[in-house]
Amino acid sequence: MTRRKMVAGNWKMNGNLALLAELDAIAAAAAAHPGVDVAMAVPATLIAPAAHRVPGLLIGAEDVHEADSGAHTGCVSAAMVREAGARFTIVGHSERRHDQHETSQDAWAKAAAAHRHGLSVILCCGETGAERDAGRAERVVQAQIEKSLPENASGDWLTLAYEPRWAIGTGRTPTLEDIAAIHAIARAKMRQLIGEAADGVRILYGGSVTGENARPILATPDVDGALVGGASLTAAKFVPIIAAAD
Ligand code: G3H
Repeated sequence: MTRRKMVAGNWKMNGNLALLAELDAIAAAAAAHPGVDVAMAVPATLIAPAAHRVPGLLIGAEDVHEADSGAHTGCVSAAMVREAGARFTIVGHSERRHDQHETSQDAWAKAAAAHRHGLSVILCCGETGAERDAGRAERVVQAQIEKSLPENASGDWLTLAYEPRWAIGTGRTPTLEDIAAIHAIARAKMRQLIGEAADGVRILYGGSVTGENARPILATPDVDGALVGGASLTAAKFVPIIAAAD
């Protein structure tokens, strides 16, 4: 099955109104590469101005709460970010797992909430450095997928992202063989859980992707795109990754 490539950025807790100017050139690059789905997750405060500034670009949230509304001070719901102009959200990012102690079950509930409110989802998984050193990377990823993949997941609304925590923001990446091995295992686990629908689900690689290393990573079997942190903050660094995906 052919899956369209996706290059998604994640600004994390970075950016301000001035940085939105970077999105102009990113939107232009997206238009110049119609074969690639280009998306950008931004802090909640920037969703509305970003969506207004570049309506042609897929703007998304970095997280949503699993409840639709209620007494959850400081949180935002899927309905709220949807109304602000988000078209997708990331869930289960390793920084949320680490900093906010979120579990795979939380990611499952957040993905379900996002889907209820018409958002696409980028569902993250990935092992820590200690887990990889202990030879447990494959089992960790399998278990995360088993606990977080919604039963009704399909490529129409869900994308998986494999992000080894030790590769995020470190300049270190797994070997291409290691990336291919985990993506194959992730695909097999999804097949076990949702059957043929798994073949339509894209699997992105994330962790220190740059304009320099993007091409071989994106040409690796079962890699359907990239989830990019640091290099998504400027058009100069992000646009070459979009070009490499085409
Ligand atoms: O969501 C993005 C990832 O955490 C990757 O971040 O590209 O800065 O390593 P990075």
